[in-house]
Amino acid sequence: MPSRLYTTQAELYDIAFSWDTSEEVEWLLERLGSDCAPILEPACGSGRMLAAFAERGVEAIGIDISPSMVALAQERLSSPRLPADALEADMTSFDLGRTFGGAICPIDTLACLEDPASVVKHLDCMATHLRPGSRYLIQLEMRDPDDPWAGVQPSIWEEARGDIRLRITWQVEEIDLDEGIELQRSRIEIVDGPDRGRVLEEVHRMAAWTPDRWISALAETAFTYLAVYDGDDESYPRRPLGQAGRLLWHELSL
Ligand SMILES: C[S@@+](CC[C@H](N)C(=O)[O-])C[C@H]1O[C@@H](n2cnc3c(N)ncnc32)[C@H](O)[C@@H]1O
Repeated sequence: MPSRLYTTQAELYDIAFSWDTSEEVEWLLERLGSDCAPILEPACGSGRMLAAFAERGVEAIGIDISPSMVALAQERLSSPRLPADALEADMTSFDLGRTFGGAICPIDTLACLEDPASVVKHLDCMATHLRPGSRYLIQLEMRDPDDPWAGVQPSIWEEARGDIRLRITWQVEEIDLDEGIELQRSRIEIVDGPDRGRVLEEVHRMAAWTPDRWISALAETAFTYLAVYDGDDESYPRRPLGQAGRLLWHELSL
């Protein structure tokens, strides 16, 4: 069942995930290179990254399976009118009829695809949409097969817009590396605003990747696995390929 946070409650998502991405976007643009426009973002949600690229003059196109998310993204990109757009499509099977110079997929979004075969289908689609030499940067957590809970910690933060303030907790509850699945619980509490006291709580079934499984899935695609960077550290240091960790950015090239 699709998450309410991405469908009927997409406006809460839009506020909860509205933190400042400036430094990360500058870093991504450096990694993607000067010829990266237009940028493609699969599973773009409500378009926060599309807007950030477009505000810097770099055209960006997003796709998402949720009509509510696409509608919010289109609204965000239309006033003021930015060089960006969002379309409804499934990231495992899409044909946009054009090519791109780079792509990104942040905050563990690819883990919404629960099995490696879907990720391979996704990467095959991406390969047909990216020009040779393009980079695809994917932020995806890797679990340590010997100690799956190593480094796993809840994320707790607050975001506000107008008179609405939210407190968000996102945590992993179960990890099953044999099945390659984990359960993550999100809890969003409205702590200020007209709906003060309302809570949206959901469990998300996500893929749990290990470095070996990730490397094997990539080997079935046209992409080369170039590097890994630690997105949990503001200087984005490089980490060895095959290392587990949180918020890792994986750099692929065609
Ligand atoms: C955690 S949100 C991330 C949104 C966005 N990448 C961001 O950084 O804000 C996950 C998004 O993935 C979308 N999604 C899940 N499965 C998808 C699929 N098969 N194809 C396209 N979008 C999908 C959901 O609708 C949701 O908007």
